[in-house]
Amino acid sequence: MKNFYGKRILVTGGAGFLGSHLCERLLGEGHEVVCADNFYTGRKANIRHLLANPFFEVIRHDICFPLYIEVDEIYNLACPASPVHYQFDPVQTTKTSVHGSINMLGLAKRVRAKILQASTSEVYGDPDVHPQPESYWGRVNPIGFRSCYDEGKRCAETLFFDYHRQHKLQIKVARIFNTYGPRMHPNDGRVVSNFIMQALQGEDITIYGDGSQTRSFCYVDDLIDGLIRLMNTPDDFTGPVNIGNPGEFSILRLAEIIIGLTGSGSRIRFEPLPADDPTQRKPDISLAMEKLDWRPGIHLEEGLKKTIEYLRQFADKGK
Ligand SMILES: NC(=O)c1ccc[n+]([C@@H]2O[C@H](COP(=O)([O-])OP(=O)(O)OC[C@H]3O[C@@H](n4cnc5c(N)ncnc54)[C@H](O)[C@@H]3O)[C@@H](O)[C@H]2O)c1
Repeated sequence: MKNFYGKRILVTGGAGFLGSHLCERLLGEGHEVVCADNFYTGRKANIRHLLANPFFEVIRHDICFPLYIEVDEIYNLACPASPVHYQFDPVQTTKTSVHGSINMLGLAKRVRAKILQASTSEVYGDPDVHPQPESYWGRVNPIGFRSCYDEGKRCAETLFFDYHRQHKLQIKVARIFNTYGPRMHPNDGRVVSNFIMQALQGEDITIYGDGSQTRSFCYVDDLIDGLIRLMNTPDDFTGPVNIGNPGEFSILRLAEIIIGLTGSGSRIRFEPLPADDPTQRKPDISLAMEKLDWRPGIHLEEGLKKTIEYLRQFADKGK
């Protein structure tokens, strides 16, 4: 189904943080891109700069319903990703991962498209193995507040592998770890955007727990590069593959770096840890290095500077 220009690629969740960067990169590589989004957490502002491109198309669509279009590849990114958003309507979150995956896999099967799933490090739950290799099965609470997201994503992985085994679909599963960068939601409660917004507005920086819990942070450009490399791997490679930055920082250290970069006078305030919050999370990226020839290249401070510049507009508006 190749057209003269390149591939026709569907990006679900294309108006979101990661999706908008992916659409931009794929257009830049000469492909035709169809963005399907229900604008649940995505924003038109994220893709406004792409709308004039004749090879870019936007469809307002909820992937919980079937979609009939002709495409060569599908990147399935649609799903609210931050706890405030995915816990707002947990049933819809599970539906998006499960019904949404069934619909997108059904589409891939009909048009014989290759399909990539944006899975997550949350499939490892609160891990007792550190760092997490793909072979680790995870430690997830099936009935907690985070389960709609974690278990939804786990079920989506199951569906991808069953479609692969049963229907010989070409699948790729990426387990994405914490990613940050411009176009993050300013108020989505994720740690990087939270700290930056608090620092820019001179408010106290809230740390849940004692701040010793660690996270790894991947800059968006590195992440998108990993996803595209994964899509282009040979057919016999399905993943799952971890894509993230193994550089480990304590939450307290992150707060200190952000205070330094913003020149903020904010002070740090400690609050109780929410339920099921993992204490450590760090990807083992040996498989991505081997199969995708990929590793993140952007240092935390460099990425944070760009993110701070982006979020400054919202902080200024809030004043
Ligand atoms: N950002 C991260 O750190 C991270 C980490 C792990 C996994 N992921 C995964 O990557 C994907 C993108 O995450 P993001 O950070 O860009 O989040 P985001 O919330 O910015 O983007 C998600 C997009 O999906 C859309 N969407 C949600 N439900 C939909 C539905 N039913 N039908 C159509 N569109 C729908 C939203 O409107 C939004 O545009 C998600 O699947 C997420 O689980 C992200």
